[in-house]
Amino acid sequence: MKFRNWLVGFSVAVMALGMSLAQSGKLEIFSWWTTGGEAAGLLKLFDIYKQQHPGVKIINAAVAGGAGSNAKAVLKTRMLGGDPPDSFQVHMGHELIDTWVVNGFMQPLDGIFKDNGWEKVYPQGVLELLKWNGHYWSVPANIHRANVMWYNKAIFAKYGLTPPKTYDEFFAAAEKLKKAGITPLALGDNGIWASTHVFETVLIGTLGADGYKGLWNGKTDWNGPGVKKALETFAKMLSYVNSDHAARSWDQANDLIIQGKAAMFIHGDWANGDFMAKKFEGYGWAPAPGNADIYDALSDSFGMPAKAPDQQEARWWLELVGSKAGQEAFNPLKGSICARTDCDPSLFNPYLQWAMKRWKVDTIVPSLVHGAAAKESWVAAINDVMTLFVTRRDVTQAQKSLAQACVDAGVCH
Ligand code: GAL
Repeated sequence: MKFRNWLVGFSVAVMALGMSLAQSGKLEIFSWWTTGGEAAGLLKLFDIYKQQHPGVKIINAAVAGGAGSNAKAVLKTRMLGGDPPDSFQVHMGHELIDTWVVNGFMQPLDGIFKDNGWEKVYPQGVLELLKWNGHYWSVPANIHRANVMWYNKAIFAKYGLTPPKTYDEFFAAAEKLKKAGITPLALGDNGIWASTHVFETVLIGTLGADGYKGLWNGKTDWNGPGVKKALETFAKMLSYVNSDHAARSWDQANDLIIQGKAAMFIHGDWANGDFMAKKFEGYGWAPAPGNADIYDALSDSFGMPAKAPDQQEARWWLELVGSKAGQEAFNPLKGSICARTDCDPSLFNPYLQWAMKRWKVDTIVPSLVHGAAAKESWVAAINDVMTLFVTRRDVTQAQKSLAQACVDAGVCH
């Protein structure tokens, strides 16, 4: 603990000195943004950076794989091996704090927040999630919504369907579609997180916002009837997905919606970025069943490793990521809303304008899969449970393992 405090103090001092550090003329940015809207957003930020700092060579160290399924392991190897990038994508909340900050790998960013007046332009709730031990540790680029149900409008019109609000309505629609030879629900879980992602929305839709939040602080019983019901519902949903789901990535699942082969896709709003990048306009959206008035939220943020090799260049990057111009350029392409409160809504498509409104009025809950609700080891344990569940659909066994994962995480007793 003493060592950690010393490290934080040391990092604060380095940060203060950082401004006078020499420029190296290079910047390495690490992320998992390689698909349509993800890459488009990232490259847009690089373009702006190059205009602002023409002398800096940018190294794009992105590692493909949705939700960081491959990137996170590569990042760990690099960080532990003393070879950090200058800045990396990391989810705000537990993923940032528990994995990197408390272990002394990051440097505090208080100076950047102060110099740019960011305490006035980020919502209070966001600022609190960025803080640990009284310091800021990353710069949020966006807010994503995880609990959206995307659908192919032409298919819905053809079969006289409206977005299902409840699980009963969902299964009624799914049955109708299945009979017509259309895959009711697209899934691409070659990274198991995509299945856990659907399950996350089912937990919310079954337990409600408070019940779901209680899963992460020990107030909701993992052995109780709510989790059982959610597992049963998810098992039933799995009987309506494309048979090749284990071979597809999330964006390949989204392709099934674009091609009119599947009707619905329960996924985060990076799917909206993917639709835009692929120039598909025939999609509609609604909250996932049972998820009305609840915003299942996450934020992609960028932090600076304590040993970032190109400190000045990294600081410029963080300043761009957090700026109004940066967020207004990045988010309409990425399919997310600004983390800042002052972006111009007219720059965003109709889905994102809807999301901006919901962000202000919905009950906000933290995403599990995307690092906001629980530490990474707990997320990994739940993903392991889901790997078995997707093939075996054994509710009793899965519930036992989920309850054990909460104990192992030190939250349940
Ligand atoms: C999430 C991330 C999003 C998007 C998605 C799919 O974890 O927050 O920005 O990239 O994964 O890769």
